[in-house]
Amino acid sequence: MPDDNLSNSRIIAAYRERTPGSSELARQAQALLPSGISHDARFIKPYGIYVERAKGPRKWDVDGNEYVDYYGGHGALLLGHNHPTVLAAMHAGLEHGTHFGSNHPYELGWAEIVRRLVPCAERVRFTSSGTEATLMALRLARAFTGKHKIIRFMTHFHGWHDHMTAGHTSHFDGTPTPGVLPEIATNAILLPPGDIAAMRAAIDGDDDIAAAIIEPTGSGFGTVPHSLQFLEALREATARKGIILVFDEVVTGFRVSRGGAQRAFGITPDLGTFAKILAGGLPGGAVAGRKDILDELDFDVAAAKGREKIAHPGTYNANPLSASAGTAALGIVETTDACDKAIAYGAEIRARLNEVLAAERLPWAVHGSFSGFHIFLNPRGRDITPTTFDPLRIPFQELSAGAQALAHKFRLALLVNGIDVSGRLSAFISATHERAEMDATVAGFRAAIGMLRAEGELPRS
Ligand SMILES: Cc1ncc(COP(=O)(O)O)c(C=O)c1O
Repeated sequence: MPDDNLSNSRIIAAYRERTPGSSELARQAQALLPSGISHDARFIKPYGIYVERAKGPRKWDVDGNEYVDYYGGHGALLLGHNHPTVLAAMHAGLEHGTHFGSNHPYELGWAEIVRRLVPCAERVRFTSSGTEATLMALRLARAFTGKHKIIRFMTHFHGWHDHMTAGHTSHFDGTPTPGVLPEIATNAILLPPGDIAAMRAAIDGDDDIAAAIIEPTGSGFGTVPHSLQFLEALREATARKGIILVFDEVVTGFRVSRGGAQRAFGITPDLGTFAKILAGGLPGGAVAGRKDILDELDFDVAAAKGREKIAHPGTYNANPLSASAGTAALGIVETTDACDKAIAYGAEIRARLNEVLAAERLPWAVHGSFSGFHIFLNPRGRDITPTTFDPLRIPFQELSAGAQALAHKFRLALLVNGIDVSGRLSAFISATHERAEMDATVAGFRAAIGMLRAEGELPRS
């Protein structure tokens, strides 16, 4: 983002005027943290907001500005901020102690509810994050099959470990990103998302594939969706060749249905990876799946087979506090309509925002599925109608175009109007988003478009 794009902008001026406290903290952060941040998604020019408290679907920055929060703890907060039952479980957990260096009863309750909800989950191994969960899933698949390569899909994100860096936002040719060994990159077969023929050709043409990993609703929670037929074909092709199919349900798990995407779609993978909602807003992850595959972690099974097990320490694996929060959160998911409520809000807000676009005669679209929405700014100027937009007809490169200058300004304009979405203009909806949030979002969306138009960024309607 060139700074000269920002210097004359009234949107940036309004943003700066509202957020002097954040500006000052961002200045201090520059001396402490690379780019002043701790997660790449928090990189915004001129600086990101600093938030000091949150409740339900809202959050407040250090300058006292209120936001309808669609970042939702990077998707972890299906139940909104500070759900009282989850909070009570955390408080009780704190009283018990935060680390016993031993097995504990809380991990059993946590694993039990995962097994009850998730179709593939015959066994569960807890990790500390989603990144660790996908790393373990691939290691399990390689150990189990004795094969080397993995299939991934361009734009799909599975965390930041070495096997997962290329092909998410760049390096679509499979070349490694800085710091990653070329030998690792060459073992990943990077395929275009949603392309059944390319997927079948890759699988049929190679007998050294251990696993295929996929975000089951499409990358970025459906920013780049694929058809159900694609998922079915992938299940069929992987099963036929003995390739381990991994659904990365770090986002979709316990969100698109109680049992995640695999339950919603009726397609059972061999392994699923989980984090976010799993741990009730605290750090935590898990691999769940077929017992014979997770047996690669089992001391006795490995000894009986005369082979080496996969080593898996991890100081914070199944941390008791995360177990308490996670069990409480999953209990609410299991026994209430939390998923359905957020999904219903999603359908309605997508329709209402598209009505705004139609009224404004803007050839953009708001699309998505389940409890998400994605604002498509139509970077190639296609002839589209917001209310009938079909993202499956748009090339993935355009859907995932990321932070173009216009998207960046629109995001800041939304923040100025009290709406926080991600840098890709995507939203995670919680079960606490209600009518007031819906109305505030529609009004803020319209006002943000007005700001862009006043700045000469949009065609006159
Ligand atoms: C689909 C998916 N997989 C894996 C991860 C990595 O999880 P974590 O950030 O807990 O390491 C993420 C994180 O956003 C994700 O969205």
